[in-house]
Amino acid sequence: MRRHLRDPYVKQAVRRGYRSRAAFKLAELDERERLIRPGMRIVDLGAAPGGWSQLAAQKTRPGGCVVAVDVQFMEATAGVTFIRGDARDPAVHAAVEKALRDGRADLVLSDMSPNLTGVRPVDEARSQELALIALATARRLLQPGGGLLVKVFHGSGLDAVIRQMQGAFAQVGIRKPPASRSDSREAYAVCKGLLVEDRIDRVFDRSA
Ligand SMILES: C[S@@+](CC[C@H](N)C(=O)[O-])C[C@H]1O[C@@H](n2cnc3c(N)ncnc32)[C@H](O)[C@@H]1O
Repeated sequence: MRRHLRDPYVKQAVRRGYRSRAAFKLAELDERERLIRPGMRIVDLGAAPGGWSQLAAQKTRPGGCVVAVDVQFMEATAGVTFIRGDARDPAVHAAVEKALRDGRADLVLSDMSPNLTGVRPVDEARSQELALIALATARRLLQPGGGLLVKVFHGSGLDAVIRQMQGAFAQVGIRKPPASRSDSREAYAVCKGLLVEDRIDRVFDRSA
């Protein structure tokens, strides 16, 4: 609690009216990677309490839209359609598609984290599963050339997850924004340029 209160990002988040200090991670990643542009259609997985969605809605104006998904409740935010549910649930997939203009997205964001158990292999497996859910969402919803920004955790299984991302996107990089605590094993995979469907199939065939 003391660390939280002393944290300069927490103080700045309060001053700027952001709902979470996590908003600064997205701001820093976006400044470096130039991911978000006006008019974009964005899906934000694991969105509550809503810092990433707030920032994405600001940066996609005018003409953009943000569809936010979380198992937990999130307060309404201007320019954001919130769908409460599990990102694995087909009913949620259908609701997200319906909320998007033309049923397609330009960018998928995922800051999803599991409830940590403290048992390292369990936590690692759950984290890698959430990253793969985000990848599957991106492959289902993105138009060719679209991007994915997804939280990952260093540990066993991450290399295999990254290989799958590399099979689907032209460029994949791992970034640790300054706002991400140095003692946390979290990082973010920045995936750019979703390959068109037949290209993805060929890449997978070759590695099979
Ligand atoms: C670190 S928080 C996200 C913070 C958010 N980016 C922000 O800026 O406010 C992680 C969120 O992932 C959500 N989450 C975890 N697993 C999920 C799942 N399977 N489907 C939807 N949301 C999930 C949690 O409920 C939690 O709210």
